[in-house]
Amino acid sequence: MYKLRIALTKGRLEKDTVGLFEKMGLNCEAVKNKGRKLILPVGESIEVVLAKSNDVITYVENGVCDMGVVGKDTIAEMGGSFYEILDLGFGRCRFAVAGKKLSAPYDRQNIKVVATKYPNVTRRFFESKGMDVNVIKIEGSVELAPLLELSDAIVDIVETGSTLRENGLEVYEDVFPISARVIVNMAQLKIHKKEIESLVEAMEKALEN
Ligand code: PRP
Repeated sequence: MYKLRIALTKGRLEKDTVGLFEKMGLNCEAVKNKGRKLILPVGESIEVVLAKSNDVITYVENGVCDMGVVGKDTIAEMGGSFYEILDLGFGRCRFAVAGKKLSAPYDRQNIKVVATKYPNVTRRFFESKGMDVNVIKIEGSVELAPLLELSDAIVDIVETGSTLRENGLEVYEDVFPISARVIVNMAQLKIHKKEIESLVEAMEKALEN
């Protein structure tokens, strides 16, 4: 029997996906008690690989994992050649433009410098509005950039909004919603069509219940 190898984004998406696998009746004991192990069996016919989000795409693109679970944020920023076949509906948050609290109404045209971990998403958004902004790449805690007056705004992930609130920042406008997606290697979808399609159908069914 062919074992499907699935790359899971470590952390929250991993937990939510394992929850879904359990709903499907698959034995997830090995992943739940993984210790430091990175490749683990799920049920009889799946092997999961725990990876960082960008690497999930790299492994799926190169065909060393048949499938992957990764956020739409990473897909939008990285792009690549793979099929995005299912919206899992969990890992919900959104990309937003945010910055220091404004005293006047928000005017997008006032934004000249934007800090972000997602330069491609940011450039595309402002270009779609006919604007050419200066995008500065930051690796983490991007909320610092407007506070230190490096940028007029940030483009970042907002989930509960508490990081912005606790730092005196606010959302100016939403960019687009994010959730976890299932991606599939293009060649493997042809070669292992039956196995992949039946797993995806089972996932869809478990999501409905
Ligand atoms: C993300 C994002 C925000 C925060 C938003 O960071 O960059 O900082 O979560 O969540 P909230 O709206 O619920 O406060 P993450 O925790 O992934 O860490 P990072 O700064 O390393 O990206």
